[in-house]
Amino acid sequence: MLEPAELDGAVDHVLAAVLATRGADFNNYQRPFVIRRLRRVADRHRMNGGVTELAARVGENPLLVDDVIDSLSLGFTHLFRDPGMWATLRSDVLPAFDSRTLVRAWVAGAATGEEAYSLAITLVESGLSPQRFRIYATDINEQSLAQARAGFVAPDRISAGNHDYLASGGTAALADYFPISGGGSTGEEPLFDRKLSERIVFARHNLASDASFNSFDLILCRNVLIYFNAELHARVHEILFESLVPGGVLGLGSRESSRGSAHARQLDTIDQRSRLYRRKW
Ligand SMILES: C[S@@+](CC[C@H](N)C(=O)[O-])C[C@H]1O[C@@H](n2cnc3c(N)ncnc32)[C@H](O)[C@@H]1O
Repeated sequence: MLEPAELDGAVDHVLAAVLATRGADFNNYQRPFVIRRLRRVADRHRMNGGVTELAARVGENPLLVDDVIDSLSLGFTHLFRDPGMWATLRSDVLPAFDSRTLVRAWVAGAATGEEAYSLAITLVESGLSPQRFRIYATDINEQSLAQARAGFVAPDRISAGNHDYLASGGTAALADYFPISGGGSTGEEPLFDRKLSERIVFARHNLASDASFNSFDLILCRNVLIYFNAELHARVHEILFESLVPGGVLGLGSRESSRGSAHARQLDTIDQRSRLYRRKW
């Protein structure tokens, strides 16, 4: 069994190598989470010496660094995750967007794109034509972003998402937004509707080190903050708040809240269960 200080040193070493090689900073992620994930990487590479061996070998092999990044940036997501949030967005938030010429939205920590697709579908079904919105969907993980740009969602994931889509107030069939097209990597595949995907820009943005890059009417940053420690929480909340126009709406994940934000008092709660907040005017 490793002494805590020894384990901590090994973890620090791995994170420093990742930062130096790829510029990805995981130093302010929750430590127990980081340790669990690094142990898994070591196991996958059959390193009997665990995280200590990983620390010794991480500098030799850039693929090992990429594996650490993948393992730390968990990309679990699905279409219309937390349908209650989407339902409240439809009923309590989007009607007010009707008067805007262009609605700008940011999905921060967008993973493989399902959340941005869900948002685009919800916006058109709320009466906004695709020309009237633009979604910036960002993530730290390049592989996830590449998949998101491709627009492919496996048919079983579309069928599984249909229940949540309908529960969110969906008015069609989810599969309608994923027509079978020949553009996929394996031939005929369901790809996300082109008219909607054209309104989404997928780009790399690291919430741990990059700054705010625009101002938005709506920001969804869901199931990302849970991995961060208090310091990084505060940093990310600062960026999110700065990036909201007055009256702009912030959506967080079901286990997250505005409490870690220095601006909590400048955010009105639209619906606590849905974790939707509005920046005061
Ligand atoms: C669990 S997924 C959440 C996906 C989606 N928001 C949802 O709720 O379904 C977390 C995502 O956050 C991304 N992420 C982790 N750290 C990040 C960072 N520092 N900057 C930007 N994205 C990050 C991960 O790569 C991953 O895709």
